[in-house]
Amino acid sequence: MEKFAFLQDQLDALQAEDLLRTLRCIRSAPGPTAMVDGDSRGKVNFCSNNYLNIAADPHVAQAVSQAVRQWGYGASASRLICGTMGPHVEVEERFAAFVGKEACIMFPSGWMANEAVLRTIPQKGDLVLMDKADHASIIDAAKAGEATFRTWRRDNPDRLRKLLAGGDYRRRFIVTESVFPWTATQPTLSCWSS
Ligand SMILES: Cc1ncc(COP(=O)(O)O)c(C=O)c1O
Repeated sequence: MEKFAFLQDQLDALQAEDLLRTLRCIRSAPGPTAMVDGDSRGKVNFCSNNYLNIAADPHVAQAVSQAVRQWGYGASASRLICGTMGPHVEVEERFAAFVGKEACIMFPSGWMANEAVLRTIPQKGDLVLMDKADHASIIDAAKAGEATFRTWRRDNPDRLRKLLAGGDYRRRFIVTESVFPWTATQPTLSCWSS
C-alpha cells in the first residue's frame, strides 16, 4: 500500500548499507551443534547463550514439563498483579540462598533485567558511566532512564577518572561487563563454522 511505501524505503536503505537482518531457522534442539535451514549436517554453534548446554538437558526438560502439567503455561498477569506464583518465589529463594544473598528477583531475559535495573536504580541527578562496549540493552536502558549518562572505553581509564571527578551528581554508577559479547563483531551467524 502506498502509505506504507516508506517501510520499503527504509528496508532498501538498510539493504544498501548491508544492515538488513535475516532470520535463519534452527531445526535441531539447542546443543553444541545445530542444523541450520536446509543443512544436512550440523554446524558447530559458537554464538548461542547456551554456555552450559542445559537448554535441552533431559532433567531440565522433565522439570519443565512437570511444572507445566502442575501450573499450566503462563502466569496470567504481570508479577505485580496476580502473576507471582509459587515457582517464582521458590526459584528466587533458592537462587538467593545459592549465591548467599538475602533476596533476588528473576527476569525472563537479560534485556529485561538490564532495563529494570538501569531505569529504576539510577535517578534524576545521578550519573551513569557506560562502557562503550556494553550490550545494547544496557545502553538503551540508560538512555531511557532519568539519569545523565556518558560513555567511556575501558582502554581509556583516564576518561573514566575525569568523568567520575566532574559534575555535580548525587550518585555515580559505572556500568561495565565481565565478558563482552559485542566487542569484536556482533554475535551473528557469520561466526559459525562447519
Ligand atoms: C551482556 C548481555 N546483556 C544482555 C543480553 C540480552 O539478553 P537476552 O537475550 O536474554 O535478552 C545479552 C545477550 O546476549 C548479553 O550478552
